[in-house]
Formats: sequence, structure tokens, C-alpha cells
Amino acid sequence: MKALVLAGGSGTRLRPITHTSAKQLVPVANKPVLFFGLEAIAECGIQDVGIIVGETAAEIMAAVGDGSAHGLRVTYIQQEQPLGLAHAVLIARDFLGDDDFVMYLGDNFIVGGIGGQVADFTASRPAAQILLTHVPNPCDFGVAELDEAGRVIALEEKPAKPKSDFALVGVYLFSAAVHEAVRAVQPSWRGELEITDAIQWLIDQGQDVRSTVIDGYWKDTGNVTDMLEVNRSVLETVEPVVLGEVDTDSELVGRVSVGEGARISGSRIVGPVMIGDGTEVTGSYVGPSTSIGDDCVIRDSEIEFSIVLPHSSILGVRRIEASLIGRRVEVTPCLRVPATHRLVLGDHSKVQISS
Ligand code: G1P
Repeated sequence: MKALVLAGGSGTRLRPITHTSAKQLVPVANKPVLFFGLEAIAECGIQDVGIIVGETAAEIMAAVGDGSAHGLRVTYIQQEQPLGLAHAVLIARDFLGDDDFVMYLGDNFIVGGIGGQVADFTASRPAAQILLTHVPNPCDFGVAELDEAGRVIALEEKPAKPKSDFALVGVYLFSAAVHEAVRAVQPSWRGELEITDAIQWLIDQGQDVRSTVIDGYWKDTGNVTDMLEVNRSVLETVEPVVLGEVDTDSELVGRVSVGEGARISGSRIVGPVMIGDGTEVTGSYVGPSTSIGDDCVIRDSEIEFSIVLPHSSILGVRRIEASLIGRRVEVTPCLRVPATHRLVLGDHSKVQISS
């Protein structure tokens, strides 16, 4: 069994963070979301992974390398244009051969891995097996219609009038039967070769398409609340460890992970919290469900339920909550009088000010 991981696309829904970074590399608990997928694949005993890359190829390759850090052998496959998920399968034909494979969308996050689904698939070897989950906004997904016995009757991509709230999760298991299907489909209204249509083609041909319903699913929606929520749930599983220095004037409460070379002084940190390598926290409070990336500076500040990406500084600011702060950002107070806000914000930034 092989894996095909999709790491192309431009990530418009997570702007401005994705102006400067691939969406699959947005961190959850200080680890790129893509790495959680690669680890889930490795845990199933799969070694050969093809990664489809697009305009952010250089960045993905720099982060993943040859895959050996995750116990994988990675082959990169360049997709010149984002022409759809079925197109990705088309261009991966040489890599995939006639092997069974799991297709994993690199921006999807599945709590608990995919071991159970892969085992089910290998035991019964249907033409395709899809994962479904209940969502509040089915119009934003591929949607499955099931019969009373739970069999998939029909699939529709981003329907205006969804026939159920069962969304297709971005993990699919396929036998070689899918190759004929991806050759058979025509571009959709959005100009893409949809994997949803290819799976519908398999159903129309009378092939065996199975589904399993999962919990614990997250996909970027441009909704920062979702990102904070998945960060919160992953932090709850983080092992408490202190690799850096914590002075005697500081207090760590609950699950707190302090990275190598990090320095905590005169601060109170209430977990679950992750502090990245080389980060300095001085005279500050860091509250639950917060991830601070590598090489940040948090001084005389308070922050809680937030994600801070590497190389950012927060100096003399209280209090920051429910925030997503990008790379190399500086947050500082301005003069008390006149009471003004002085902002230098990148394109597509969103700021909420308490005044
Ligand atoms: C793609 C699929 C869709 C699926 C979703 C899951 O959508 O086309 O069926 O529900 O991934 O992440 P896209 O990310 O291309 O909008």
C-alpha cells in the first residue's frame, strides 16, 4: 500500500498567514498540520509516499525533505496547476502503479489517525472507501447521500442544497479501479477534475464503495476559532517536559512543554501550553491552550488560548486572547495619550480592538 499526499493549493482561506506560508505548514501545537498526516500514514506501516506539490513546492520540500525523519520514502510530484484532486491521481499514475493507496489531503486534520480505516480497507478491499463526518456547513464540502443501510448512494461536490450533513473527509482509500474513474470524469463547474465525481463514477459502474463515519475532524475554513480549537485539543495530549531553563520565580502548572534553549523567568504558565525552542518568556502569564512557536519573545505580557508562530514578539501587552499571530510579528503598546491605535497590518489581516 502507498500513500498520495496533496500539498498544493494556495490556502486563500487562511490568509494572511498563508501569504507567506503553505497552508499545510500552518502549525498545530507547534507542528505543521501536514506532519500529523505523515505520521498517521507512517503509523499504518506505509512507507512509499508521493507528495503532490504546487506553487509552494520549495517550502514543502524544505519542511519534509526525503521523508526519512518520519520513516517514509517521499517522491515529489509537481502539479503545474491546481486542476483538482482527480487530476492529482492522474498525474501520480507512474508513482502509484496498480497498488492500493490512501489519498490524504495535507490540510486535513484527523484526531486519532487512520489505522482503523486502513485495516478495514485492506481486509475487504472495496474499489474505494471514504470517510464521512457530520458538519454544520455541508455546502463547503463534498456531501454523501446514504441509504438506510448506510451504503453510499450518491455524492455531490459543494452542493447548493445538500442532501445530508455527511461531509467527505479528505482521506480516501482506493484500489487501482480509481484510475479508470479519474480518466472518465469531466471538469466540474469550478474547472477541476473532482475526486467526488470519480467516486460517483465507480458507484454508477456498480463497484463497491464503502464509507465510515468518524469523529474528531478538522479542516481549515479560514475560521481562526477552528484552528484554536484543534490546537486546544492537541495540546491536551502533549507530554509535559522542560528542556529549557525555568527560574525559581516562575511557576509551571499542568501540562507545559518548554522547548530546548527556551528561558522562562518570573512568569506563570498554566497548561496545556507549548513553548517553542529558544523562546524567552519574562514577567508574563501564558494561559491554557496556547502554543508559542520557536524563537519568540514574550515579555511583560499576558496571553491565553492563542497560537503564536515563530520569531514573533509580544512586549508589554495585556491581555491577548483567542488570537492567531503570524511569523516575525511584533505586538507592543503605544503611548497612553493620545489613546490611538497604530497598526501596520499585512493584506487580509483581521484585527479586533477592545476600545
Ligand atoms: C476537497 C474535496 C471535498 C472534501 C474536502 C475535504 O475540497 O473536493 O469533497 O469534502 O476536500 O477537505 P476542497 O478542499 O478542494 O475545497
